[in-house]
Amino acid sequence: MPKKLFIKTYGCQMNAYDSDRMADILIPLGYELTDTPDAADLVILNTCHIREKAAEKVYSDLGRIRDLKRDRGPAGADMMVAVAGCVAQAEGDEILRRAPVVNMVFGPQAYHRLPEMLARAQGFNARGGREKLVGMDFSAAEKFDTLPEDHQAPGVAAFLSIQEGCDKFCTYCVVPYTRGAEYSRPVPPVLAEARRLVAQGVREITLLGQNVNAYHGNAGKGETCSLGQLIRRLAEIDGLARIRYTTSYPGEVDDDLICAHAEVPQLMPYLHLPVQSGSDRILDVMNRRHTAEFYLRLAERIRAAQPDIALSSDFIVGFPGETDAEFEATLDLVRNVGFASAFSFKFSPRPGTPAATMDGQIPERIKSGRLAALQALLDTQRFAFNESCVGRELPVLFEKPGRHAGQIIGRSPYLQPVFAEGGADMIGQIIRTQIIGTGSNSLHGNVNSHTKVAAE
Ligand code: SAH
Ligand code: SF4
Ligand code: F3S
Repeated sequence: MPKKLFIKTYGCQMNAYDSDRMADILIPLGYELTDTPDAADLVILNTCHIREKAAEKVYSDLGRIRDLKRDRGPAGADMMVAVAGCVAQAEGDEILRRAPVVNMVFGPQAYHRLPEMLARAQGFNARGGREKLVGMDFSAAEKFDTLPEDHQAPGVAAFLSIQEGCDKFCTYCVVPYTRGAEYSRPVPPVLAEARRLVAQGVREITLLGQNVNAYHGNAGKGETCSLGQLIRRLAEIDGLARIRYTTSYPGEVDDDLICAHAEVPQLMPYLHLPVQSGSDRILDVMNRRHTAEFYLRLAERIRAAQPDIALSSDFIVGFPGETDAEFEATLDLVRNVGFASAFSFKFSPRPGTPAATMDGQIPERIKSGRLAALQALLDTQRFAFNESCVGRELPVLFEKPGRHAGQIIGRSPYLQPVFAEGGADMIGQIIRTQIIGTGSNSLHGNVNSHTKVAAE
């Protein structure tokens, strides 16, 4: 009987990619995925350290898993519990001290060694020992070179990590510590992975990196390839209908990338470009290395190249020392740019980052007030953008069945979820869809018999 594997993913898309790769490694070893930890033989929590809430959630989940294991009595003894991802990298064996239920801890660049780490940890466990395994390697190159080539059932839209780590050291951020130095995968294995995905039925690929537009992969013959150039090469793959990338750093947006938005039809008109703040002083203390004016001009240049682009962003409110006027500058920037969607967060002091110990930490009450004001403004812009789609006919890539019978869910070019009536035969197709309404975070579309043709 196959052993049961439960993986819970926290945090960003890079973790989602990693979780799928862990499944790719374990399934050939006799595991099958299950969607609850209840009867699992192996539980992997693939964790996120970006904000305190995300990191603490892991410990409450571990508490539940401890109870579950205990309730299973003697049968629970063989259940293995692993903590992977960014909390694992940041906290290491501290996790073993805080949560004795954990058998193994390994960081984001070590999971390719899962079979060997698991075998050792199972050995310790079988001997009733409390010795736990901690894998903390830091070689993204070795990882990518040894991961299994074939992805299990990648679906219609897939992630493809092309870069790892980050060298920017924004003063609030743990990523340079949890994911290590920036590393770009060479071009040939990226193209090969993309071709394999397309051969498995994938129509849309989202290229991933914490700083994806700083990509500079080795293209052979001593040449490097920028993200814009990589996108052009991917666009030559037959059957790959849509290309996206995330997340970008404003200072690394170059002309290649902007031109790709103007010239490559497969590159979707959507750009997630975190700005964090609209105050130059705060941007400076955050070490973002750009000004609000730079961001505004950049948005203009991108829109000049591709007027139909939807912009999205991330914001942090209540950074240490942020005054009311500096927060107002963020609202001004939002009004000036106009975002189709956005994520916004209260500053969360992270251990080991410079901002955690800066003077002028902002009280929770003020952070909450600022977050509410910013989110109200961003919501207005998002609703307005969604409303502006009503009455248009958009090409929608349908990805999966909806919750109700006869419903299917896809994505617009601008990444909005689109709900429509339709059959499973439409999944994997890009279909011109009449947008007839909006939900709080989605569009409703109508696919009638005239438009039910593969459009692209
Ligand atoms: N590499 C991306 C995203 C990193 S994490 C970038 O450079 O933009 C995703 C988002 O989490 C960030 O854009 C930021 O808005 C938020 N974030 C990161 N650290 C944070 C912290 N300490 N407190 C609150 N939000 C944070
Ligand atoms: Fe973190 Fe800044 Fe790197 Fe983004 S660019 S991952 S916010 S350090
Ligand atoms: Fe979180 Fe690590 Fe991603 S800290 S946001 S899972 S890179």
